[in-house]
Amino acid sequence: MDSSLGVVGLGRMAQALLLPLIKSESIPIGNICAVVKSAASIKRINDQFPKGFKVFTSEDQNAKEVWKSSIVLLAVKPQQLNEVITSTSLNQLLNPNTLLISVLAGVSLKKLQKSFPNQLCVRAVPNTPAFVGAGLTGISWGKGVTTKERLLTKELFSPVSEVLELPESQLDAFLALTSSGPAYIALISEALADGAVAAGLPRDLASYLAHRTIGGTAELLNQKDLHPGQLKDMVTSPAGTTIAALRELEKAGLRSALIEAVIAATERSKELSALSN
Ligand SMILES: NC(=O)c1ccc[n+]([C@@H]2O[C@H](COP(=O)([O-])OP(=O)(O)OC[C@H]3O[C@@H](n4cnc5c(N)ncnc54)[C@H](OP(=O)(O)O)[C@@H]3O)[C@@H](O)[C@H]2O)c1
Repeated sequence: MDSSLGVVGLGRMAQALLLPLIKSESIPIGNICAVVKSAASIKRINDQFPKGFKVFTSEDQNAKEVWKSSIVLLAVKPQQLNEVITSTSLNQLLNPNTLLISVLAGVSLKKLQKSFPNQLCVRAVPNTPAFVGAGLTGISWGKGVTTKERLLTKELFSPVSEVLELPESQLDAFLALTSSGPAYIALISEALADGAVAAGLPRDLASYLAHRTIGGTAELLNQKDLHPGQLKDMVTSPAGTTIAALRELEKAGLRSALIEAVIAATERSKELSALSN
């Protein structure tokens, strides 16, 4: 990638994207710069990033370089966006046709295009498994984004995630499943471990086994392209242990609770997007 990349906000998500990108050398480190809010963050970032990485505070005059990059990755918290827009004379800094990629949850393409009317806007929804290179990123393209910019955007996310192009109308449900999903699975993992502790296993072992069972099951479903029902039937023998457990899960309404959870998260995401417009 011979573009320059400016990163606005270098917290957990932007770091998860940037470090593998720098490591893969798909973009020279000299072509990247970032801006953060506080001087304390600069020290922490300098400790984590390779030598030669440029990071400034928003007060620093050099921070203008970030906005002049050909690609700008917007990765502040959604509630920090207005401050970023109003505190920076963006119209003087941004080039027309800068590729502006936002990972801000609940900030719509409409809002982005209103805030950056001369730029090419992209809305991306990454998830936390990206921190270990196993993420999913849903992407919706704003007006005028060409094949070239689509490829550049995908290059940015592909070192840490699978990239899926989606209409923006599907992003709320995508987020409800993939971005909030790690919390649902973490809850399930914790509860499974609690069950095993109640049944007599030591805590560390129970937690390890719960995580590995979830990871291994997901791997099996993916690799063998199995329907979840097929896998359930494979491990459920007549009058056996699994059917005794499944009976309890159905009685407690696990399936219905998970369906309602994804719907509730989708509705909340829609509400937040509407507030951001
Ligand atoms: N984390 C996730 O799992 C996840 C998943 C999907 C999407 N996202 C999205 O990613 C975005 C960032 O999330 P995060 O968890 O990485 O947040 P975070 O860790 O709080 O990072 C926010 C960054 O923005 C910087 N910042 C704040 N105000 C600024 C300003 N005026 N100018 C320049 N930089 C400023 C902060 O600087 P300081 O360090 O100096 O405070 C910090 O580096 C959010 O919009 C979120 O919706 C996150």
